[in-house]
Amino acid sequence: MKDDDRLPLFPDEPAPPPYVTVAKVGDIAEGQGRAFPVGRRMVAVFLNDGKYFAIDDFCPHQGASLAEGYVDDCTVACPWHHWRFSIEDGSWLDNPKIGVDKFNVRVVGQEIQVQEPPDPKIKL
Ligand code: FES
Repeated sequence: MKDDDRLPLFPDEPAPPPYVTVAKVGDIAEGQGRAFPVGRRMVAVFLNDGKYFAIDDFCPHQGASLAEGYVDDCTVACPWHHWRFSIEDGSWLDNPKIGVDKFNVRVVGQEIQVQEPPDPKIKL
């Protein structure tokens, strides 16, 4: 049993969201990102310096896929208008008080897994 799979200490405590396998090691090239559906969200998973990161794929400016952006030194520049976000914590580098969601990601064996994120906050 891994730490993230622990049962809740108290019966009323909700279980943590499960991890979902999105890809295999080698499916994402170094310095690149790929988008995957996880729960009801699209998640951008990046490989940078041998480490995986996961943030919301939806650029808050006009909705481009951040996974298609340009990765450099733990940042991704949106492919449409070049807003830059940290792939470590999702912060928008021009105003770090705001940004996109960051998600937990791990590698188990050869599987890249993302913890299922909460539903989007946008109500339609
Ligand atoms: S859509 Fe991302 S910066 Fe415009």
